[in-house]
Amino acid sequence: MDRIRIQGGRPLEGTIRIGGAKNAALPLMAAGLLTDERLTLTNVPALADIATMAALLRTLGVAVDPVGNDGRVLAIGGAITSSEAPYDIVRKMRASVLVLGPLVARTGEARVSLPGGCAIGTRPIDLHLKALEELGAEITLEAGYVTATARKGLRGANVIFPFVSVGATENLLMAATLAEGTTVIANAAREPEIGDLAACLTAMGARIEGVGTDRLTVHGVTSLHAATHPIIPDRIETGTYACAAAITGGSVLLEGAKLEHLGAVMRTLREAGVEVAEAAGGLSVKRLNGLHGADAMTEPYPGFPTDMQAQFMSLMSVAEGASMVTETIFENRFMHVPELSRMGANIVVHGASAIVRGVPALSGAPVMATDLRASVSLVLAGLAAKGETIVNRVYHLDRGYERVEEKLAACGAAIERIPG
Ligand code: UD1
Repeated sequence: MDRIRIQGGRPLEGTIRIGGAKNAALPLMAAGLLTDERLTLTNVPALADIATMAALLRTLGVAVDPVGNDGRVLAIGGAITSSEAPYDIVRKMRASVLVLGPLVARTGEARVSLPGGCAIGTRPIDLHLKALEELGAEITLEAGYVTATARKGLRGANVIFPFVSVGATENLLMAATLAEGTTVIANAAREPEIGDLAACLTAMGARIEGVGTDRLTVHGVTSLHAATHPIIPDRIETGTYACAAAITGGSVLLEGAKLEHLGAVMRTLREAGVEVAEAAGGLSVKRLNGLHGADAMTEPYPGFPTDMQAQFMSLMSVAEGASMVTETIFENRFMHVPELSRMGANIVVHGASAIVRGVPALSGAPVMATDLRASVSLVLAGLAAKGETIVNRVYHLDRGYERVEEKLAACGAAIERIPG
């Protein structure tokens, strides 16, 4: 298994190109199942999760082909020949469950392995299933698989989510585009990735109202058609590199980044003493003076994203004063805390909150994390720490960060991948 070695203490200086958003790309690829015609996605990030979703679509019979040589354009299309998402793929990536809605809407049947336990809490899919049931799908659970059937097609319905779920909103939105009649989704997630999905579905011929709000209205159509859609820049990658610049006392241009998707993160970073400004071609982030403690509480969009919690905690671990970081989306999403503590951070967890008392410096150590964002938070800590940090289990990073060590090294970080 590859590892990453970092010699800390060098300020990042330079330009980092922000890739397409992983969490937008995955549902967009699943949306390719809604038509036989070709869906062309541009600005596709080169990530392990994208390869996993491509493999899943291929097992369903659909072709996924790169267009051109740079790997950033994917064409998805063709007839669906299987309705089963096998365990071997779903266990690698929970987002596989996003094929459930499109498959049942298109073929009247979907059989998807239940995602197993997950490092960041139990993460059930009950909301996905209940929503599809309200559209008339019959749901059965057997032998670790969920089967959704709607032989006569789905019917529009009013669905009120009891709490906000990004994936359940996406699954339902996709399914509703081909349902008969109108579907209203109340308490829908408002993440920018949902707006991106809605934009793509609209380009494919779907009729969706209320995009950007928590109430989506979908008027079902009989079929969708070919479209070309550019994927939005990755706001979490942007926020992560902003924290990297801040934690090293550096200055970077995040090329292609969009400030409008990062309101809560950038407000919090500014409060902590980081300078963030829109610049030609992207966002400029620098930290010239000291960092001070700032609080963050994760919430559904437009609140502070849970996917930025670990990175922000690394940053706060070297800020002056105390900060409180509260996680309200996932239980058990503080697995980075013991690893940061091993690097000298002073963090106390009490229930869903962590009190971080800033220390003057972290010290390098061998560390390992069990999820994507926790892993990258350890890379950030390593960039700021004295001495050498080895981050193990790099495959977590590769799921969601494109060439992380190359992007950071190009800005002066002493970081390398050790193949293993
Ligand atoms: C998506 C993102 C993930 C991000 C999360 C929250 C993708 C591929 N992943 O995950 O990176 O951290 O949004 O912003 O886009 N829940 C249930 N039942 C359900 C569905 C969800 O109880 O049927 C719970 C979850 O366990 C969690 C909360 O709802 O506590 C929110 O999860 P959700 O928004 O669904 O996250 P994902 O779509 O899985």
